[in-house]
Amino acid sequence: MRLYDGEGRGGAISYIVTVFTGDVRGAGTKSKIYLVMYGAKGSKNSGKIFLGGGVFDRARTDIFHIELAVLLSPLSRVSIGHGNVGVNRGWYCEKVVILCPFTGIQQTFPCSNWLDEKKMDGLIERQLYEMVSLRKKRLKKFPWSLWVWTTDLKKAGTNSPIFIQIYGQKGRTEEILLNPNNKWFRPGVIEKFRFELPDLGRFYKIRTWHNKRSPGSGWHLEKMTLMNTLTKDKYNFNCNRWLDANEDDNEIVREMTAEGPTVRRIMGMARYRVTVCTGDLEGAGTDANVYLCLFGDVGDTGERPLYNCRNNTDLFKKGNADEFTIESVTMRKVRRVRIRHDGKGVGSGWFLERVLVREEGQPESDNVEFPCLRWLDKDKDDGQLVRELLPSDSNATLKNFRYHISLKTGDVSGASTDSRVYIKLYGEKSDTIKQVLLVSDNNLQDYFERHRVDEFTLETLNIGTINRLVVGHDGTGMHAGWFLGSVQIRVPRQGKQYTFPANRWLDKNQADGRLEVELYPSEVLEIQKSEL
Ligand SMILES: *[C@@H]1O[C@H](CO)[C@@H](O)[C@H](O)[C@H]1NC(C)=O
Ligand SMILES: *[C@@H]1O[C@H](CO)[C@@H](O)[C@H](O)[C@H]1NC(C)=O
Repeated sequence: MRLYDGEGRGGAISYIVTVFTGDVRGAGTKSKIYLVMYGAKGSKNSGKIFLGGGVFDRARTDIFHIELAVLLSPLSRVSIGHGNVGVNRGWYCEKVVILCPFTGIQQTFPCSNWLDEKKMDGLIERQLYEMVSLRKKRLKKFPWSLWVWTTDLKKAGTNSPIFIQIYGQKGRTEEILLNPNNKWFRPGVIEKFRFELPDLGRFYKIRTWHNKRSPGSGWHLEKMTLMNTLTKDKYNFNCNRWLDANEDDNEIVREMTAEGPTVRRIMGMARYRVTVCTGDLEGAGTDANVYLCLFGDVGDTGERPLYNCRNNTDLFKKGNADEFTIESVTMRKVRRVRIRHDGKGVGSGWFLERVLVREEGQPESDNVEFPCLRWLDKDKDDGQLVRELLPSDSNATLKNFRYHISLKTGDVSGASTDSRVYIKLYGEKSDTIKQVLLVSDNNLQDYFERHRVDEFTLETLNIGTINRLVVGHDGTGMHAGWFLGSVQIRVPRQGKQYTFPANRWLDKNQADGRLEVELYPSEVLEIQKSEL
């Protein structure tokens, strides 16, 4: 997710340009590189764009986000060149790859040539044409603007990290961090943001939150407005409440229903009473932080930290039942509960008996029971710290699917990592959480070693046919850099096996320096269907 802060820089159409410098002696340059993109039939072009901030070292990949007022994609050609200044001015360009999220078209322009007045033909500008066989269709994304009004009240401002997530009829956005550099939201000030989103249908709600509970870190939000930059379709989200652990109901998460001319039916708010019952076994209690997410017929609550207990101060003790209230835009019926803890504290293992959920104001007899009767303990049961719970009588079509994930580490020197690896799957119906892969099925002790395959299982709802995934690591550990070969996902209940080639570094010192990559399946095989 790329976020554009503040007022626009030119146009609404963005282009992601990736420039590959070759892996040959003397390939790098310090000269200023520029690019011209030409539209279909060459009638329109971008003009000379200088690619500032690039490194252009040997075997490096540099990525640039460019915004223009004109739509040029699919491009007919590009020209690339440099200013021919400085000591090491010659440059060996491998190729240029350009993705236009608006059309979803990714084009590859091979070069494999010098731009050096002392080599070959001496040219320092080249025309590059697309290798059409390498063209790829990516998810289409559209530009949106968001305005955020902080209330004009003393202490309303904050520089806590503020996140949003927007829900539409066809899915939800990622969690979007609005102020990456702890930028302040000041009282009475309107902040504007721009970002690109895939087609998610009509929006019906937004959630915003931060995770700071210390005094003075709270925020009073008046409202937000979201507008499609091209069609001007607009949604209003009124809040007028605190996100502050010491104000109002002490919550730091708010959901707001969508209003305005684009909205056909405004959804109401709901409050859910959640009772978490810890088992009565030896060592069943935990001091770890517990997080819960409710999934309904319409959307979910997002993950909520359970700290505001209604009837206990010492939480999640052996044999106790702790009550919480969760407020959200109505989800109609609650169908699924995801609950986890963060493993903090000694003896953090937890035996969860069950979770009860009802709408506030309803009698206790209306509670829907989500049995668990399992450990969330890295040393017990299957070692998972997260469980997805369903009502005992739930319909088979809603039952969990198993996603068997195999990660192959490449066979190159230094390929292994000891960083925390995570994965997130996107299907045509839904997506999974960003799952940290902590406990493998094939138990190879040291994970993600060179030329080995580590296997994990993710149990969650049916997300439909998988069309992409994101895999990465958090860069911690002595040797963080990782060369990922490929990812394979087997879903027996779908009767499908997906292969996602990667063959790239996730290392801040290699190629483009990124620790996360989005992958698309190269192959989907039919396999024997089974219930496992
Ligand atoms: C808290 O509420 C739950 C559910 O109503 C109840 O079972 C439990 O006994 C209560 N705990 C205390 C300490 O009142
Ligand atoms: C199970 O759920 C599906 C989809 O929601 C529905 O079509 C079907 O009728 C349900 N079956 C039962 C037995 O409730």
